[in-house]
Amino acid sequence: MFDVEKIRRDFPILGKKMNGKSLVYLDSAATSQKPRKVINAISRYYRNYNANTHSGVYKIAEEATEDYIRSKKKVAKFIGASEWEEIIYTRNTTESINLVARTWAEQNIQKGDHILITEMEHHSNVVPWIMLAKRKGAVLDYIKLGDDKASLDEAGVDEQLAKRPKLVSITHCSNVLGTIVDVKAIAEKAHKFGAKVLVDGAQSVPHMGVDVKNLDCDFFVFSGHKMLAPMGIGVLYAKRELLEEMPPFLGGGDMIRTVLQQDFTLNDIPWKFEAGTQHIDGGIALGVAVDYLKKIGMENVREHEKALTLYTLERLSKITGVEVFGLPSQDIDRRGGVVAFDITGVHPHDVATIFDQEGVAIRAGHHCAMPLVVDILKKPALSRMSFYIYNNESDIDKVIEAIAIVKKKFKISDTLKP
Ligand SMILES: Cc1ncc(COP(=O)(O)O)c(C=O)c1O
Repeated sequence: MFDVEKIRRDFPILGKKMNGKSLVYLDSAATSQKPRKVINAISRYYRNYNANTHSGVYKIAEEATEDYIRSKKKVAKFIGASEWEEIIYTRNTTESINLVARTWAEQNIQKGDHILITEMEHHSNVVPWIMLAKRKGAVLDYIKLGDDKASLDEAGVDEQLAKRPKLVSITHCSNVLGTIVDVKAIAEKAHKFGAKVLVDGAQSVPHMGVDVKNLDCDFFVFSGHKMLAPMGIGVLYAKRELLEEMPPFLGGGDMIRTVLQQDFTLNDIPWKFEAGTQHIDGGIALGVAVDYLKKIGMENVREHEKALTLYTLERLSKITGVEVFGLPSQDIDRRGGVVAFDITGVHPHDVATIFDQEGVAIRAGHHCAMPLVVDILKKPALSRMSFYIYNNESDIDKVIEAIAIVKKKFKISDTLKP
């Protein structure tokens, strides 16, 4: 049974005040809050077995190494990977994508080759490909949004795949629109055209059950900090055969087996991609975060966020002067817990500032998705609230109250639709 009030008690920060008001945290798409179990795991590590992994033959180094590997096993199982060796720890989604761009793509993408992304990508799934295209003389193509400005244009997918891209790199869930993309269908088609497929799961893994084998993607990336774990730990999953073939990303300790004055031999995967001292406590705490989410159940997480999103869309639909982006409530099965909105005539930074005074933390800006927000939605910025397991209807009620305050301050008189 999903009990949001019980879950809330696990998050110490939710007892805090912001500007004298109880904190209403609605920016989990940027980073999630952390439950006590995760915070304690970090503290436990430093109190009891802080040591560098792999190299130490003493007890606490062995304990740290075992826990770090145990965490990879948990993550592998959580996303349906076959083996823990397919889990590479990075700093975040951004680094995971850059790793692929600098290794697999560097080797496999040449002048004139096509790379395919979509118009709803986060900058971290745009800029590495612009950089690669410039380096190699490759062509970066985009799957366009449909007329609804919320989902991908289906015909556009086929049209772009006909160009036989070497790589299709797509988001699983948009951090602005909340749209959940049918990456399984795209991967199936892309493979028929001989492309490899990278899925950006930064906004999906924290919020829904994911099975990389079922999606049949070649690469899958996400960030620990958006799923209850600390900052600075991210994941790259890739199929074993790809990891075996890929050249290393960074050179240094741990990624080698032997080093001579003029040469070196590589370590096995996953260590081949983890040069230097890693974020050991972060990795261990990510395993604890996975345990926490599994205990709640990812279907329950998804159902809770669906209900909150529906409640939000319903409440917002009764207010004039508020434009809401993304799919309508009928399409809730294709919509995650992200609601971007605009109060007509008020800059989102002013909206977020007034919300802040009311204790409500939301995001305002281009959300690291300028090609979408500025070019397609034609907005310089948007306000965005995003939900997680600890949000409840009362949080949304506070948003509605805060919108009324914004409208009053900016003398936008009409509040309720007739
Ligand atoms: C869809 C998506 N991809 C990638 C990222 C980048 O994540 P990170 O900053 O953790 O690398 C984000 C962050 O908001 C995101 O929402």
